[in-house]
Amino acid sequence: MFSLRDSAWILSLFYSAILVACETRKPNIIFIVADDLGWNDVGFHGSNQIPTPNIDALAYSGLILNNYYVTAICTPSRSAIMTGKYPIHTGMQHTVLYGAEARGLPLKEKLLPQYLQELGYDNHIVGKWHLGSYKREYTPTFRGFKSHLGYWTGHHDYNDHTAVEAPGWGLDMRRNLSVAYDLHGKYSTDVFTQESVRIIKTHNVSKPLFLYLAHAAVHSGNPYNPLPAPDDVVKSFSFIKNYNRQRFAAVLSKLDQSVGAVTQALADRGILSNSLIVFTTDNGGPAEGFNLNAASNYPLKGVKNTLWEGGVRGSALLWSPLIRKPNRIATQRMHLVDWLPTLVDAAGGDSCQLSHIDGVTQWRALSNDEPSNRTEILHNIDDIYGNAAITVGSWKLLKGTTYNGSWDNWYGPSGRTGYDYDIQQVIDSPAGKALQRINKAATVQQILDMRPKATINCSISDFLQGDNCNLLEENCLFNIEEDPCEFNNMAKSYPAIVARLLQKLDSYNQTAIPPGNLPLDPRGNPKYWNYVWTNFGDYFPDGDVTTVINI
Ligand SMILES: *[C@@H]1O[C@H](CO)[C@@H](O)[C@H](O)[C@H]1NC(C)=O
Ligand SMILES: *[C@@H]1O[C@H](CO)[C@@H](O)[C@H](O)[C@H]1NC(C)=O
Ligand SMILES: *[C@@H]1O[C@H](CO)[C@@H](O)[C@H](O)[C@H]1NC(C)=O
Ligand SMILES: *[C@@H]1O[C@H](CO)[C@@H](O)[C@H](O)[C@H]1NC(C)=O
Ligand SMILES: *[C@@H]1O[C@H](CO)[C@@H](O)[C@H](O)[C@H]1NC(C)=O
Ligand SMILES: *[C@@H]1O[C@H](CO)[C@@H](O)[C@H](O)[C@H]1NC(C)=O
Repeated sequence: MFSLRDSAWILSLFYSAILVACETRKPNIIFIVADDLGWNDVGFHGSNQIPTPNIDALAYSGLILNNYYVTAICTPSRSAIMTGKYPIHTGMQHTVLYGAEARGLPLKEKLLPQYLQELGYDNHIVGKWHLGSYKREYTPTFRGFKSHLGYWTGHHDYNDHTAVEAPGWGLDMRRNLSVAYDLHGKYSTDVFTQESVRIIKTHNVSKPLFLYLAHAAVHSGNPYNPLPAPDDVVKSFSFIKNYNRQRFAAVLSKLDQSVGAVTQALADRGILSNSLIVFTTDNGGPAEGFNLNAASNYPLKGVKNTLWEGGVRGSALLWSPLIRKPNRIATQRMHLVDWLPTLVDAAGGDSCQLSHIDGVTQWRALSNDEPSNRTEILHNIDDIYGNAAITVGSWKLLKGTTYNGSWDNWYGPSGRTGYDYDIQQVIDSPAGKALQRINKAATVQQILDMRPKATINCSISDFLQGDNCNLLEENCLFNIEEDPCEFNNMAKSYPAIVARLLQKLDSYNQTAIPPGNLPLDPRGNPKYWNYVWTNFGDYFPDGDVTTVINI
């Protein structure tokens, strides 16, 4: 006979089965970072210049994050992703970290993979780190990641994997702490794609996976070959007349293929339907020769490392079957620092406990299409450049500028023409096909509906009517919702709003810690390390070097 005790036992088995099911239902998180990709470089924002069918397929099937902000340059952006804090709160607010600087993202910071580890995740990083490597404890495998194939500094050549950066030149490609000499000549985007696919294939699916894939693309390489791409791919873009843009298109197209291959690998492994994919740029695009690159933020103003919208309004998407209301343009305001609490919530954690960070969870807002809890964004305060910017409600205030105003303009190419946008190419892309396998592909009608809504239209007549802004002489105020292209400086008309935003900026400034930048340490020069960028701090006692090494 069936006793009460038996049924209690069966019940408890039943509940533990549910528990296990809940455990394994934690989504795999694939976080793909494109380096230096501009607003107008992806197809889903309306550009008809460079096809990005795989990226677009995920965007239309998930959420196009159209009110999404990043920090203006690499190191601050990556620190914001990893900590959920504004760079002014970690000392990372001024420019990038150089390989020869004896610093890193402070070790007291708890990073995204460490939070996810507590939730049972297996964490891997592929590609760029850029948050410190002068001692091994600053490198990824000491900060929450199980493995790393990639590089430590801000960029490298995609074929020889060396980085030219003051004060020298050296190889920068590693597997964990070992130098990956054997990868010489293999194209970085392919190397990172293959490693990501390998991780997905061999991942033990009894645990959720966190894969942080930070590509070199589309950052420029070294000055001797700024936009490295296979010749046949470059040739396929011969319809783009600007040669640098043509090469840029090839670099981007390889990145797009990578997104397709990773999505396909998830489908092949049978885990796509329980995955969450983020695709985001780290900052705005370097256009028209900035950083020897050819990105486009059209029609937004400014470039990478400026606080104009072109520097801080980012191209991004979020894809997951866990999103309750997908296939839409998400107008929820979001900032890079929000990923940490958002992903913790998506992973079944509790972001309420993260009161010490600047990030605000967007998980419910994005999934259910509810209003975002983020009303303001501190774009940055950099007292070394002498610039700062903040958005509160619909108003954005800019104070000071980055390059003495020399990048405070609108840059092409517009990229609205070139080829006919090909919806079938999106549907037939590897990502599109992978989505079809789990019945999540967007329909032609959905794509037709979404794309124009994700396109920013600013007209030259608005520009001509606007009161232009000279940040060398004045603070400027824009109604960013009505005037996303920053044509019309309203500072003179709304002095009370200017005063209120300056006050806000001031209260953020009072919480800032000083920038952590250090002078380049001569010990870091790769010429002392067999021409490899290395964790030189591990080989010297702290203190003055010159007594230790004769340089
Ligand atoms: C990197 O470290 C992880 C964890 O210790 C290890 O599993 C992996 O094999 C290492 N990778 C390489 C290439 O050494
Ligand atoms: C996967 O992990 C589970 C739980 O840790 C373990 O029991 C199993 O043996 C692992 N499978 C493989 C193929 O390693
Ligand atoms: C916004 O914050 C409030 C107060 O913390 C909370 O109750 C609400 O659920 C949040 N909304 C969303 C969409 O997360
Ligand atoms: C801006 O101009 C000042 C004075 O001419 C100069 O010292 C400084 O180096 C310039 N800064 C930049 C970033 O160009
Ligand atoms: C931009 O213009 C296109 C073409 O006129 C239109 O379909 C689309 O709705 C506009 N986008 C927005 C966001 O207003
Ligand atoms: C922030 O505070 C510092 C020192 O307290 C001051 O020198 C700087 O000008 C302030 N910056 C801004 C943007 O208010």
